[in-house]
Amino acid sequence: MNVSGLRDNFGRLHNNLRVSVTDRCNIRCFYCMPERDAAFVPRAEILTYEEIERFVRIAVRLGITKLRITGGEPLVRRDLPELVRKLAAIPEIQDLALTTNGVFLSELAEPLYEAGLRRINLHLDTLDRERFRQITRHDSLDRVLAGLETAKRAGFHPIKINAVAVKNLIEPDIVPLARFGRENGLEVRFIEFMPLDAQGLWDRSRVLLASDIIEILSREICPLVEVPDADPRAPATEYRYADGAGTVGFIASVSRPFCLNCNRIRLTADGHLRYCLFAIEESDVKPLLRGGASDEAIEEFIRRVVSGKWEGHAINSARFVAPPRPMYSIGG
Ligand code: 5AD
Ligand code: SF4
Repeated sequence: MNVSGLRDNFGRLHNNLRVSVTDRCNIRCFYCMPERDAAFVPRAEILTYEEIERFVRIAVRLGITKLRITGGEPLVRRDLPELVRKLAAIPEIQDLALTTNGVFLSELAEPLYEAGLRRINLHLDTLDRERFRQITRHDSLDRVLAGLETAKRAGFHPIKINAVAVKNLIEPDIVPLARFGRENGLEVRFIEFMPLDAQGLWDRSRVLLASDIIEILSREICPLVEVPDADPRAPATEYRYADGAGTVGFIASVSRPFCLNCNRIRLTADGHLRYCLFAIEESDVKPLLRGGASDEAIEEFIRRVVSGKWEGHAINSARFVAPPRPMYSIGG
């Protein structure tokens, strides 16, 4: 590994890369995608598995050790296990994970495990069929739950559940989802609704704050005790239930931004490197990957993007501007 690592101008070291493999998705969560006519990048713009692998191998030389595969919905990309096999074979990657909505997990959990993946985050906001349909505009809850079962049986561990915390919507789901997590040995993580939806529906008043959820769980289930940060650079704050049965996490992106500890960069499906989820600017690495650039030139490109990283998204300031790309097109 290159000893200097990927350090930005604020001293933050970057060891975490999130790679989106597609901007397509098989459902339409309202906090991410429009109900219809989503704008997708042309297929020719999407990086091939060979291009992704090359980029990751170069990034690894600069100190990337953690990798997450995202989308859109990564499982809609054809032959995903093939990519996983390539990435799992890179010895410097200490942590390889995937975020999925679970709709295709029944079919793909085993091939993915077999290809070397061990860790998944499942995106699931509710156990109520009607609310699932309302949120995702698809009637796929049963498939997701079956997919989760298949993933457990295949051996994935840990499996974390991501739920987007939207006010005046998911309140009835908080306790059932948290109980479901406790009973099944899954960590549920509530993510504050962020201004990344495609239709501009986000509004500060629609964010259900982590502190409110903590209060609800403490009252309805059992008191929560904050777990001292195992990994201070991870965005989730973890709590354990005082009775010893399980943990629950909070990603308080809005009420407690964690930019100061950020160690992440993101590669979009169409090959744009972003230093922040909320970045306004991004840099296209495709011309280098497709134009015969040397590994060194790509290393230099990555270093330049990291060193130009801003201090933070300033989501709580008047100068905050939501990024032009919605979540599905950036990659969570
Ligand atoms: N705010 C917060 N989280 C979101 N996700 C998608 N859109 C939003 C949003 N607007 C989450 C999904 C997915 C993860 C990648 O990002 O739950 O699991
Ligand atoms: Fe698809 Fe994930 Fe966006 Fe939902 S949040 S529409 S599952 S990409």
